[in-house]
Amino acid sequence: MRNSSIKIIKDITEIVNSTINLNNLLDVIIATATKIMNAKASSLLLRDEKTGKLFFHIATGEKKDEIKYFELEKGEGIAGWVAEHGTPLLVENVREDPRWSSKISAAIDFSTLSIACAPLKVGDTILGVIEIIDHIDGTPLTQDDLDLLNAFSEVAALSILRAKIYSFVNKENERLREALVEKSKIVGESQIMKKIISDCSKVAHSNATALITGGSGTGKELFARFIHNSSPRKDAPYITVNCGALTETLLESELFGYEKGAFTGAYAQKIGLFEAADKGTLFLDEIGETSLGMQVKLLRVLQEGVITRVGGTRPIKVDVRLLAATNRNVEELVKEKLFREDLYYRLNVVRIKLPRLSERKEDIPLLAKYFLERFQRTSGAGRRAVELSPEAMEILVNNDLPGNIRQLENALERAVIMGSGPVIRPSDLPRELSERGPNSLAVGLTLKEAQDVFKRDFLRRTLESVEGSKTKAASMLDIQRTYLSRLVKELGV
Ligand SMILES: Nc1ncnc2c1ncn2[C@@H]1O[C@H](COP(=O)(O)OP(=O)(O)O)[C@@H](O)[C@H]1O
Ligand SMILES: [Mg+2]
Repeated sequence: MRNSSIKIIKDITEIVNSTINLNNLLDVIIATATKIMNAKASSLLLRDEKTGKLFFHIATGEKKDEIKYFELEKGEGIAGWVAEHGTPLLVENVREDPRWSSKISAAIDFSTLSIACAPLKVGDTILGVIEIIDHIDGTPLTQDDLDLLNAFSEVAALSILRAKIYSFVNKENERLREALVEKSKIVGESQIMKKIISDCSKVAHSNATALITGGSGTGKELFARFIHNSSPRKDAPYITVNCGALTETLLESELFGYEKGAFTGAYAQKIGLFEAADKGTLFLDEIGETSLGMQVKLLRVLQEGVITRVGGTRPIKVDVRLLAATNRNVEELVKEKLFREDLYYRLNVVRIKLPRLSERKEDIPLLAKYFLERFQRTSGAGRRAVELSPEAMEILVNNDLPGNIRQLENALERAVIMGSGPVIRPSDLPRELSERGPNSLAVGLTLKEAQDVFKRDFLRRTLESVEGSKTKAASMLDIQRTYLSRLVKELGV
C-alpha cells in the first residue's frame, strides 16, 4: 500500500513538473489519471468561461482523436453537473441516475457502469472536470476512487492554470514585441533620410552623446530608439524621460532617485532612472525645457559619470549612454542664456538634425502607403484595402504639415476609420488639410516658402479649371504665358 502511494505521488509530481504547453499537459494529465485510477477510460473537459460549455479531451477509446473537442452544453450530463456545482460526484450505476447523459459514453464508444467525476478548480474558478469510467477489470468505482481523483484534480487544476497563464503571457509578449518592431520601423528612401540612418548607425556603435533636433513629429523618438537598438547596448534597458512634462523637483528625483527620508513622502529609498538604465541608454526628450539648475546636475553626470541620489551623499557610478532631443532651436536658447553652453557642447557631440516632412516630399507616398497598410492590418480583420486618390495624395504631398509625420499618420488613420469607400478622397482628410487657403499655411515657413506654397496651389487650381491650357490660364492670371511656364517649372506645379 505504501509503495503504491509513493508511486502515485511520483506520477502526480511529474504532472507538476511537466510541460507548460497546455495541450501536451492535458494529455499527460489524462494518461496519469487513467493509470493511477486503474480506469477503463478517462476524459478531461475544459470549461468555456463565457458559455459554460465543456470541451472534451479523451484518453481512451478508438475514436479518441476524432472526437477531441466534442462538447457538452452548460449543465449537461454528470460532467456538466460537477462543473456547475464545483463538487465531486460518484455515480455507481449510471442507469439509475437521471443526470447521466449517454452522449459521452456513446462518444467514446464505451459501455459504462460507474462514473467518478471531480472538478478542476482553483479558488472559485472551475476550469473543467476530470471524469473516470469504471475500473479496467469492469468493476465499479468507489468512494475511495473519488477521493483520490479529487485530490489528483486539485493538483492538475493548478498546473492547467499555470499553463494557461504562461500561454497568455507568452502571446501577449509576442504581440507587444511585434507592435514594438512595427512601431520602430523607419520608412524613407530620400537621400536625406539615408544619410540620417547611416549617421545614426555610426553613432550607435560609439558611446557618444547625441543631440537629436527637429520639429514636432519628425521622428526624434523613433531615431533615439533606433540608435539604442543598433548599439551594443541593445539588450540593456532603454529608458525615455520627457523632461518637459515634470517639474524640476520631480524630474530630479525621477532621474537620480532618492534616499529614505530625503523629503516628506520619501518613505523608502528609490532608484532613479540613471541607475535603472545602467549599461543601457537614457533618452532625455525635450531637453530644451529643463531649468538651468537641472542642467548643472546633468552636466555633472556627463563630466564625472556619477550621480548622487536626492538626500544622499555617496556618488554612484553609472554607465549610461545619453541621447537628448528637442524641437527648440538650441543655439538660440544658448544665445539667450536659457541653455548652458557647456551642457550644449557635451550633448552636441553628435548632432542628428531631422528634416521637416516637406523637405523630403519624395518619402510622403512611401510613408502614406506604409501607414495605410499598417492600419488595415491592425484595425481588425476583414477591412478592405484602402488607397489614396491622386487628389488626396497631392494634398498630403504639397501641404506643409506642421505636425510632420505624426500629423500624416493621424490624418491617414482617421481617413481609414472614417472613410467609407476603398479610396481615400480629399474630403476624408482633416479639414485643415483639405480646405487649403492661406490660413492653412504653417507658421514657421519663411515668407518666400509661404508664397511658393500659395503660388503652386493657386496655379495648379487655375490650370485645372481651364483643362491645362496655359494660354487661358495666363490670361486669367493676367501674366505672360512665358512667365507662367517658368513658374510652373520652377515651382514644380
Ligand atoms: N521615418 C519614419 N518612418 C516611419 N514612421 C515614422 C518615421 N518618422 C516618424 N515616424 C512616426 O511618426 C510618429 C512621430 O514620431 P516621433 O519619433 O514620436 O516624433 P518626435 O519625437 O520628433 O515628435 C511616430 O508614430 C513614429 O513612429
Ligand atoms: Mg517626441
